Amino acid sequence: MTYELPKGFLWGGATADFQYEGGFSEGGRGLSSHDYETDGSKDNPRHHTMKMPDGQIIAPRSSFFYADPVPPEAQPVFLEDAYYPSHQAVDFYHHYKEDIALMAGMGFNVFRFSICWSRIFPTGEETEPNEDGLAFYDQVIDEMLKYGMEPLITICHDEMPMHLALKYNGWSSRKVIDCYLNYCRVLFERYGDRCRYWLTFNEINAVRGFGPCGTRESSGQAHYQAVHHMFVASAKAVKLGHELMPDSQFGTMYAMSELYPASCKPEDVFHRLQERRENWYFIDTMGRGYYHPYAKDIWRRRGVKEIVMEAGDTEILLEGQLDFISFSYYRSNTTKAGDDWFTVGGSPNPYLEETPWGWPVDPLGLRHVMNEIYDRIQKPIFIVENGMGAVDELDENGLVQDDYRIAYLRDHLQAMADAINIDGVDCLGYTMWGPIDLISLSTGEMKKRYGFIYVDMDDKGRGSLKRTPKKSYYWIKEIIASNGAKLAE
Ligand code: BG6
Repeated sequence: MTYELPKGFLWGGATADFQYEGGFSEGGRGLSSHDYETDGSKDNPRHHTMKMPDGQIIAPRSSFFYADPVPPEAQPVFLEDAYYPSHQAVDFYHHYKEDIALMAGMGFNVFRFSICWSRIFPTGEETEPNEDGLAFYDQVIDEMLKYGMEPLITICHDEMPMHLALKYNGWSSRKVIDCYLNYCRVLFERYGDRCRYWLTFNEINAVRGFGPCGTRESSGQAHYQAVHHMFVASAKAVKLGHELMPDSQFGTMYAMSELYPASCKPEDVFHRLQERRENWYFIDTMGRGYYHPYAKDIWRRRGVKEIVMEAGDTEILLEGQLDFISFSYYRSNTTKAGDDWFTVGGSPNPYLEETPWGWPVDPLGLRHVMNEIYDRIQKPIFIVENGMGAVDELDENGLVQDDYRIAYLRDHLQAMADAINIDGVDCLGYTMWGPIDLISLSTGEMKKRYGFIYVDMDDKGRGSLKRTPKKSYYWIKEIIASNGAKLAE
């Protein structure tokens, strides 16, 4: 069986503004909800730096799944001795021409990036957008089009103007739906003539402090109410987008790991179903346009008394269904009765190797997930993040010989091709995470690198920011040029 992919398959990379763009105080950009997040490491979680009314500094953890609640009276503060990676990131803001040319050099025909909401509406509540912010993304899009690269735009990648997060407790208020739609309308009217593919949110199902929902609580009533508002906002954005841009296609992005029961013990298998539904909850609601009956069980188990809905919510969820289902896939997880991602985490899987950051490597899991989603929703899928975070060392010639990354990507791309060519999954494309090294979301480090292109910068933002292609750069270029056929070699 060949690994060659159907004609028109989209090959590219994916980034997020607060991990990649920098320029945080330039061009009229407002403060974003990640701007107060410090660096960290695998064993040392990132924090938000906050101040209580009595002047006491607190530092709630903001890492994946274990975010601490942030007291309502706490206000963000910048500390002189803290490092905030989003401020400079790796400075796409000033390197976009060079970076896009490097991506074109690999043959990318799509590039996924996110627009920083507070660059367009600094507080989220202005009546007029910030022209400098709009002009920046005009230049980025035009530069991409010069090389025949399709923009895939994430409207909201785990962030929002800090003002909205603080004033409204993020998405827990319906007011934010209007702010978001106002923002979407501006983007659609400005870029709709050049951009077809849109993602309303990134990893809407992941829980992080001030993360996707911008709320101070990471689970429970406020979280699920906030998510309902995001569902409504997304559906309204899809409807508006289709009206303003008839050729547009919309997805929302989900964090999708494979999930295994730790044994064939019926309790473990049933527990796996329940944990899996914590993810299906998002895909089912947005992909089918209604809450599945199991949602009630999730609300009960997560301490949700009632999801407050307004007249018209049910209709809009149906009308604003997604056109495709997009997701990130990095790893698999294993679970047994008694595990809970939100508290104790999962169980080890003795059959899989792990990355240096402890993420199990599981290419076949990708093929399985692609099938599961496609069987369930029957809409095209799009893999919009995948990759391996690793420590890269420069050799004596100043090059990175990243054979481990090539091996990871080859295995995952082969699994993807099998899902498409053998299992019949309709997949629009693949965008590898962080084609140019950028800041890690979970740890705030630079050391955890994903790219085909090395960036000379350390964990504290020191370095020349010089970009240098790694060995994998030349490898992926050949794979893309052969539309996957060379994966067989
Ligand atoms: C996804 C996010 O969760 O995974 C990205 O959408 C993130 O923003 C990526 O960077 C990889 O995670 P990490 O923590 O290794 O950067």
